[in-house]
Amino acid sequence: MTTIDVRTASPYQVHIAPGALDRLPELVGDATRTAIIHPAVLADQAHHIAQQVPAPLLVEVPAAEDAKTAATLVHCWDELARAGFTRNDLVVGLGGGATTDVAGFVAATWLRGIAFISVPTTVLGMVDAAVGGKTGINIPAGKNLVGAFHEPRAVLCDLDVLTSLPEADIRSGLGEVIKCGFIADPRILELVAQDPADSLNPASVRFAELVRRAVVVKADTVSADLKETTSVGTRVGREALNYGHTLGHAIEKQHGFEWRHGEAISVGMVFAAELSARTLGLGEAVVEQQRAALASVGLPTTYTGDWAPLRAAMSLDKKARGNTLRFVGISEVGSVAMIDAPEETLLTDCFATLNPTA
Ligand code: GLY
Repeated sequence: MTTIDVRTASPYQVHIAPGALDRLPELVGDATRTAIIHPAVLADQAHHIAQQVPAPLLVEVPAAEDAKTAATLVHCWDELARAGFTRNDLVVGLGGGATTDVAGFVAATWLRGIAFISVPTTVLGMVDAAVGGKTGINIPAGKNLVGAFHEPRAVLCDLDVLTSLPEADIRSGLGEVIKCGFIADPRILELVAQDPADSLNPASVRFAELVRRAVVVKADTVSADLKETTSVGTRVGREALNYGHTLGHAIEKQHGFEWRHGEAISVGMVFAAELSARTLGLGEAVVEQQRAALASVGLPTTYTGDWAPLRAAMSLDKKARGNTLRFVGISEVGSVAMIDAPEETLLTDCFATLNPTA
């Protein structure tokens, strides 16, 4: 079992291993009741967990992003009320990042905050959503516009649950893992380059090491800046995790969220690398290394759609400050810097490099 410490004001541990879920009973502590919030597809797993915790309450929520609504919250609150949940009780979020986001927000808001254990069942959920305390829902005006920082009591990344995941989902998670390589941990890039196919195999030792390293990057980053407040010039805090996300989020929005997150940020990272080459002196070799790393696990590095709608979406993104656009860039592998208000012509130049047919 690999255990990683997240050293925020409310410290907790992330346990990563095949069978990590076996630790759940000891983590429940003195809770009297346990709500297990899960999508229908994980009902069997939720029933299995229910046998290991006190007074289980199974609460089913819609699949994936459809769970992140105010209606889901009301449903969960009603269920907790009916079962008489008190401050001493616990919420377990079992599912992908969307499920753990909404389950965490239920825990954050019930009686102004009760204990939460996150059990992510996707690679993205493990390396991103489950660590760092961001919980919340979407509203028609935008994703994640309503939420709270509510850190879990523990995160259980059971690698056994990934073996039934479609390869496209593993690949999408690898997008975030490779991102962690470029912003902070070059060893991730070596591991992927040595054997891309093995990097996509959730049963491999290499895969477990990649997840561990990505969680360490996330844990260290949020430990230093939980609430994303410290970025000034080259001293970049939690915002570093948004490398590739400014354009990536715009692509997700433009395509009605049909692109997987990892695919969209893959293209976004290539764009951010091109912009970094023009503004931060990032070497061409690293830009190409990034294209190669992403392509080696089957992630997209090109984009043939229009610029105008993406540009408009980026202005509305929460990473924009006031009227200016901000991008996370790198000056070399592991060195992050913010790129504030880049020239429009630079942006269109970088965008043109994404289109192989132009
Ligand atoms: N997903 C970016 C963050 O947690 O800050």
